[in-house]
Amino acid sequence: MRALVLSGGAGTRLRPITHTSAKQLVPVANKPVLFYGLEAIADAGIREVGIVVGVDQAAEEVKEAVGDGSRFGLDVTFIPQDAPRGLAHAVLISRDYLGDEDFVMYLGDNFIVGGITPLVDEFRATRPDAQILLQHVPNPSAFGVVELDENGRVVGLEEKPKQPKSDLALVGVYMFTPVIHQAVRKIEPSWRGELEITHAIQWLVDQGYDVRSTVISGYWKDTGNVEDMLEVNRSVLERLEPKIDGSVDDTSEIIGRVVVEEGAEIVGSRIVGPVIIGANTRVVDSYIGPFTSVQHDCQIIDSEIEFSIVLHNSSIQGVRRIEASLIGHQVQVTPAPKVPKAHRLVLGDHSRIQISS
Ligand code: G1P
Repeated sequence: MRALVLSGGAGTRLRPITHTSAKQLVPVANKPVLFYGLEAIADAGIREVGIVVGVDQAAEEVKEAVGDGSRFGLDVTFIPQDAPRGLAHAVLISRDYLGDEDFVMYLGDNFIVGGITPLVDEFRATRPDAQILLQHVPNPSAFGVVELDENGRVVGLEEKPKQPKSDLALVGVYMFTPVIHQAVRKIEPSWRGELEITHAIQWLVDQGYDVRSTVISGYWKDTGNVEDMLEVNRSVLERLEPKIDGSVDDTSEIIGRVVVEEGAEIVGSRIVGPVIIGANTRVVDSYIGPFTSVQHDCQIIDSEIEFSIVLHNSSIQGVRRIEASLIGHQVQVTPAPKVPKAHRLVLGDHSRIQISS
């Protein structure tokens, strides 16, 4: 069995971060979200993994971050997709790589706590033509939606329907036998111009193939937007093993689950976990509150921040208080001069800023 990991896409809901970086590399507890998926695949006993990437700068970044996959115990092959043409298109262009093997398709921005091992084991044992995972969600219109009959059999699938027929969303992990290769050749692009895997699975259902579904109750999130990203970060930090490898001076206070990575320095500050402070980051005269991840090589000086993610090489000085924020890399946040009382902004395209004044 192989795995096909999808790590392309424009990431429009995570702009401006995704103007310069891949959405799958946004860190959760200082580790790219994509790596959690790769680890789950390795844990399920799969070794051969194809990663579908775009042909842009973000793709280069993914290739560099993952390398040959050996550090995950994987043998990774990158498969370029010329544009975001849909999940079924990704399967179409991976035909040669996948050959006649069964495979699990894993969307690189999806996050499943507890991994996929039991699900993959069940698929291996029962081997239906396809196996999908579902979860009850409050906002089904944002997902692929599945309708089941009274016996729990899949009768219909729709991609992001305005009037959803159920509250069961398609989770971004799918298990397929090679029959899916016929399906992806039979479908037409959707209203959003993409070849939808949802339509390919509907084709399987219509042809009488055995498509099974499992409703999962554990923790699943598509990290496509900032709110979900912060929420996943929160949930991962809750399970953090506290560890202080960096230095904490006598005037600082560390409370709860806190990781201070190698070379990080905490001076005159109060850190209330769960929090992770990345390598070589300096926190001086500041408060870092619960559910905050600060990546490596940042400076947080005379500031307060909580429930946020800060990417590497950024600096926050003299600002209080920052909350529920996703801050990219090499960002500088400082106070404006006292007079005139005005905000001074240099914001990239598609930035979102909420000012309290
Ligand atoms: C994709 C699928 C959708 C599925 C979702 C899960 O949506 O098209 O059916 O429910 O992933 O994350 P996208 O993230 O491409 O909007």
